[in-house]
Amino acid sequence: MSGIRPTGFLHLGNYFGAVKNYVRLQNEFECYFMVADLHSLTTHPDTKELKTNVQRVLSENIACGLDPDNAALYCQSHVYETSELYLYLNMLAYIGELEKTVTFKDKVRQHENNVNAGLLTYPVLQTADIILHRASYVPVGKDQEQHLEMARQFANRFNHRYGDVFPEPHAFNYGDELVKVPSLDGAGKMSKSENQYATLYLSDDDELIRKKVMKAKTDSGPTEPNTPKPDYIENIFALMKLVSADDVIKKFEEDYATCSIRYGDMKKQLGEDMVSFIAPIREKADNIRNNEQYLKEVMEKGAEKARKSAKATMELVRKAMGLNYY
Ligand code: TRP
Repeated sequence: MSGIRPTGFLHLGNYFGAVKNYVRLQNEFECYFMVADLHSLTTHPDTKELKTNVQRVLSENIACGLDPDNAALYCQSHVYETSELYLYLNMLAYIGELEKTVTFKDKVRQHENNVNAGLLTYPVLQTADIILHRASYVPVGKDQEQHLEMARQFANRFNHRYGDVFPEPHAFNYGDELVKVPSLDGAGKMSKSENQYATLYLSDDDELIRKKVMKAKTDSGPTEPNTPKPDYIENIFALMKLVSADDVIKKFEEDYATCSIRYGDMKKQLGEDMVSFIAPIREKADNIRNNEQYLKEVMEKGAEKARKSAKATMELVRKAMGLNYY
């Protein structure tokens, strides 16, 4: 089980860090992938753009290979059981531990005029999402580790108080394949960043992709054999490894080793290979996004699968809690 926030556009870092794993997971496990539209209300109370954003996130993930006929792909707000479980879990979560959450403290700083209770109990809602399907594996990035730790805590607390209902959820990744997707400005990893040229979005058009890649930082090249690569050059090679053919990479490695590398050529090549990688995804996502009827069917199908699993869990929960009076 994993959740995707419907804020912002998918970028290359999201693709290689998350979505690619979802696509693989869906063939090996029973998967639930959810658009976290309720979570977005904690920071984005204005819902004018919500429908568009939900449709975009669904389209982009499907274009990347998530198969709605295989995994359950659904919206959080369509599964009312989530809210019920959230309420019960709120009685098991202590204010002190919620206030200590790093993401809460960050958000208090960012949204000081809207420090709502939903922000405080964000990890409780996330726990509800996960354990609603009695999920064990949660493919998430490092930034979600503390939330997962809390999910285990709340699930265990429920089990101790009311009896064993939930398995312990754990963060999941294909350990051997922790790919690094560096930012194009030579600093850190690709993320939603302030420097709009540092991140490649799956919605970028061909010209923009080429332009962004050409702007990546380089220098005049090595002058002595066996010079270690500076970080920003290492990054360009790392990006190339994601999308370029082996012989292309080998050529530029050799050029580097022999001090004959031309970074202009290398970036031109990388730009073309990025275009070949991104353009088909972008076109597919556009087609899906323009097909409202199809998206409606996807959401209905996903919600149906998710509700079925949620209903079964909630029967166990109410029984364990002694809330079944008749
Ligand atoms: N909090 C997650 C994020 O910021 C999104 C999320 C919501 C989630 N519910 C989840 C992730 C359940 C994993 C499982 O990205």
